[in-house]
Amino acid sequence: MGINALKPRYFMTIEEKLNYGTFEATVERSLKLEEDLIKNPQKYRVLTGDRPTGRLHIGHLFGSLQNRVRLHRLGVQTFIVIADYQVLTDRDTFEHISENIKQLTIDYIAAGIDPESDNVCIFPHSHVPELNQLLLPFLTLVTMAELDRNPTVKEEIAAAGLKRINAGMYTYPVHQAADILFCKGNVVPVGKDQLPHLELTRTIARRFNERFAQNMAVFPEPQPLLSKAPLILGLDGSQKMSKSRNNAIMLSATEDETAQLIKKAKTDAQRQITYDPENRPEVSNLLTLISLSTGEAPEAIAERIGDGGGAQLKRMLTESLNDYLRPLRAKRKELEANMDYVRDVLKRGVNKAREIAEATLDEVRSVMNMEI
Ligand code: TRP
Repeated sequence: MGINALKPRYFMTIEEKLNYGTFEATVERSLKLEEDLIKNPQKYRVLTGDRPTGRLHIGHLFGSLQNRVRLHRLGVQTFIVIADYQVLTDRDTFEHISENIKQLTIDYIAAGIDPESDNVCIFPHSHVPELNQLLLPFLTLVTMAELDRNPTVKEEIAAAGLKRINAGMYTYPVHQAADILFCKGNVVPVGKDQLPHLELTRTIARRFNERFAQNMAVFPEPQPLLSKAPLILGLDGSQKMSKSRNNAIMLSATEDETAQLIKKAKTDAQRQITYDPENRPEVSNLLTLISLSTGEAPEAIAERIGDGGGAQLKRMLTESLNDYLRPLRAKRKELEANMDYVRDVLKRGVNKAREIAEATLDEVRSVMNMEI
């Protein structure tokens, strides 16, 4: 594939140039963006990413993975960065990073991201030196105070109980800006917690253009695309699904493991099943999961179960979820038996990312007056 085919095609609308304001305004813009994505997929380049801290679970699948697959199938160029450097910001262990990179890649492909498509690029950022180098000029465009007041970073510091905070923790949002801007990504599908990082990326893009590239913008100001998926609670029904909270069903779990986990899921004492997320979060969450697996509305499922109680609810969830995940899990198994292919996907991803990052870095050096 030639470099021209990789050149981003973005057009900045007047709306994109307006300053971002309230959360409501962000939601509003995200809805408009969604409409335009469907009409004009070729205008957009999506960049998303994950930290390789483990395999993905069904909360990831229904929350973000399926949305990526949908955008990819609309024909939007899709870049997925595996943020391996970010793992070092809040934990000591690094022995599983390499394995996790490959397991994440398997999850993406099994979920429907087609690595043979020209529109897809999956890569770990530690292998793309030109991307990482963008961090240096970007760091000069933000203040210490700005880094210090990032609410998501503060929460992560508290959640990890860090006593000594490494500088990578404060600066990873700037690194994330490099993840997004190296390929001139202009759409970033995000959850609410990532909005401060995206705001910083927009600030960096704007300041870079203002300072170095007044005649012709080098970077777009990427827009957040907020997820429409419902929040998936864990099997305890009280908090977000997450591997570390031990309340998740992994995509890689077997059908038996899935059945066992669902058996232990929390419900309530009422026999009559109703969909009432406010008052019956546990039961409603299980209904939501059935609904996501079958396409039937949760209210209708509840009605069908009637006074069948928690046991019938769980039986139905086990069956519909295992049915739904069967092709994905078969694909997972196939890929796990073919690690050479998985590595090849990553190598091709790295090559493509490097080609693009190199072109961007050349452009950046040129406008910064650093040519030799
Ligand atoms: N910070 C993100 C997370 O913890 C991962 C990430 C790294 C990312 N680089 C990114 C997400 C760029 C979107 C775009 O989930």
